[in-house]
Amino acid sequence: MRIDTVRFAYGGSTGAPILQDLSLAVQHGAFVAILGPSGGGKSTVLKLLSGLVSPQGGTIQIDDTPVTGPRRDVGTVFQKPMLLPWRTVRDNVLLPAGFARAATAREAARADALLATVGLSDSAGLYPGQLSGGMAQRVGLARMLLHDPRLLLLDEPFSALDAMTREHLSLELQRLWMEERRTALFVTHSIPEALFLADRVVVLAGRPGRILADMPIPLPRPRTLETISEPHFGALALELRRLFDTAARHGTLAA
Ligand SMILES: Nc1ncnc2c1ncn2[C@@H]1O[C@H](COP(=O)(O)OP(=O)(O)OP(=O)(O)O)[C@@H](O)[C@H]1O
Ligand SMILES: [Mg+2]
Repeated sequence: MRIDTVRFAYGGSTGAPILQDLSLAVQHGAFVAILGPSGGGKSTVLKLLSGLVSPQGGTIQIDDTPVTGPRRDVGTVFQKPMLLPWRTVRDNVLLPAGFARAATAREAARADALLATVGLSDSAGLYPGQLSGGMAQRVGLARMLLHDPRLLLLDEPFSALDAMTREHLSLELQRLWMEERRTALFVTHSIPEALFLADRVVVLAGRPGRILADMPIPLPRPRTLETISEPHFGALALELRRLFDTAARHGTLAA
């Protein structure tokens, strides 16, 4: 996917610029994490890629075709899971299968397998109002994977999870990603999470959002829970910490 000199403001060109001359190219099969201060424009970048909003300037392409609206080969987990309250967990996972028709046996089997992956088999019949924040996020993750998208857009998908579940799902996500080598863009506030998952970490500084750093993460795969305690991991985390602080300062200085 390729973002080229994109300019974006909510409310058209009269609004405050959120992104200014933003360019980012991600090659097929790469896992890229986006890190940056709150309000820096990370979610906006994902909304542009998922076709929910359009830029005022520049171009956005996925697989060499311009993004003109939502597409089936792009799967998104939004920061807020956006589940339909009147549908069960299982039927929310099956949502991309379509409103107008019943899910096929294949889709139903895949939904059940994905619910098992995210640890929700026993909760398949519950309604969103009966879920914790972390459970709802896991439903969102399973739903995103239903149609085996080529591009995964994940907006802080683990932010409401406890540390153990977070580790477990990071390992699962790495496994799913390594199986098919889909392209993934993963927004997070967590430096260890970005390091654990990504081939590249992009640090976005806010107001207007631009890329402050683009750091390759040369840790071998599969990464394990031991990876986190290696000295190399610690050194990379420190470097990212410094970049993150610089990004946060940029935001406040310009504000
Ligand atoms: N729908 C909207 N209408 C108007 N302004 C918006 C809208 N959504 C976001 N913004 C503004 O755009 C800027 C970037 O928001 P965005 O959600 O992309 O940030 P973020 O980096 O994802 O932040 P966070 O880490 O808190 O999720 C913020 O200043 C925010 O107020
Ligand atoms: Mg956000």
